[in-house]
Amino acid sequence: MADVIKIEGQHELNGTIRVSGSKNATVALIPAAVLSSNGKVTIYGVPEIDDVENLRVLLKELNVSVEQTDDMLEIDSSNLINIDLESNAVTKLRASYYLMGALLGRFKRVRMKMPGGCYLGPRPIDLHLKGFESLGAKVTYDHLGYLIEAEELTGAKIYLDFASVGATINIMFAAVLANGRTTIENAAKEPEIIDVATMLNKMGAKIRGAGTSVITIDGVEKLVGCVHEIIPDRIVAGTYLIIAAAMGREVRIDNIIPHHLEALISKLSEMGVKTEVGVDHVVVTKAENLKGVDISTQPYPGFATDLQQPLTSLLTQAIGSSVVKESIYTERFKHCIELQRMGADIRLSTAQCTVEGPTPLYGDTVTATDLRCGASLIVAGLLAKGVTTIRETYHIDRGYEHIDEKLQAIGAKIWREAE
Ligand code: EPU
Repeated sequence: MADVIKIEGQHELNGTIRVSGSKNATVALIPAAVLSSNGKVTIYGVPEIDDVENLRVLLKELNVSVEQTDDMLEIDSSNLINIDLESNAVTKLRASYYLMGALLGRFKRVRMKMPGGCYLGPRPIDLHLKGFESLGAKVTYDHLGYLIEAEELTGAKIYLDFASVGATINIMFAAVLANGRTTIENAAKEPEIIDVATMLNKMGAKIRGAGTSVITIDGVEKLVGCVHEIIPDRIVAGTYLIIAAAMGREVRIDNIIPHHLEALISKLSEMGVKTEVGVDHVVVTKAENLKGVDISTQPYPGFATDLQQPLTSLLTQAIGSSVVKESIYTERFKHCIELQRMGADIRLSTAQCTVEGPTPLYGDTVTATDLRCGASLIVAGLLAKGVTTIRETYHIDRGYEHIDEKLQAIGAKIWREAE
């Protein structure tokens, strides 16, 4: 039976929340481990989320051994069998596409179904495929999915029409063992890309420029095992900052890299939220009379699309109009329909919404249509009068580690029930 999350709103929050390792780094680092043909890859800080569980199912199908102790995974791919990936686990997360680049890089052949993940409007992978083709691979697609294979992979200059996170990482995977030099121009600059390049370099890769728009990869003969600790999850951290701004008397968010959250922290202070930024934590204290602000999502270091949905819930409590523009996923507004059901005054138009506030929110039964929609409904539920019931919580569990328990620990009335 599926669970629902229930929240009795309007309880003040007080205390400390510790942020787990980054989901979007983890889901790339685990596939990266299969590039090692000699030695185990040990990764610390792995969050307990369903995306990791689904990747483990895929690794098992590939005969990769995975041992877990607390938040540490030890991945041994020395006996990997490069079978066709056709199971449902492929469609349960977007990031299964990283096995395309990793298996292509190591074996020059990969066959797998179309990856799944949250529906945020069309999410093509044409830039990933063009990158593989530039390195010499042939891509075909039929009723069984993709077949990507190459006699040889040879370094190339690749310009990305859009600075795609997934394409940048996938091309790095395919290029690390290719002959010669690959240059990715207009590469994405997200912190998760630096984390992945750092681990690949520990494995013996030669990658320079990660975190800038030009990444150079000099192919090497083979990659080996290493030990790596994942960066903290800036989107989970940002979600807790927003929750603290909504309901916190004083909430400390620990284990974060504040520099990764500059766009959000400056928007929150524009709204009148008080933050005290430390080296690895932020303390948020209660603010009255929040002011409406405009946001426009952009690739990093701009305002993250993944925080647009949770921030929209907070904007319903701010005075005046706030215009929220989406430039990454123009259809990422399903949460607005759910927020309207709870009393929010939101007008939707193409690739943007306008929030008029403040409006009281009232508990209702709402649906987490995607991961960050789920996060926005948790923010709304904590703010609302009465009890909110959130359905389809599996989306939330794909990316937030024990969010109900972490919020309970700082005073939230939040619990799970069988539907
Ligand atoms: N795009 C293309 N062609 C491609 C690839 C991307 O047109 O081949 C477009 C997309 O349609 C989108 C834009 O480029 O409009 C950005 O997509 P990008 O490839 O950067 O996103 P992604 O790699 O699929 C990752 C995160 C997302 C996050 C985006 C943007 C992972 C597993 N996912 O997706 O995270 O929103 O970057 O920062 O890393 C989430 O965590 O909730 C989430 C959706």
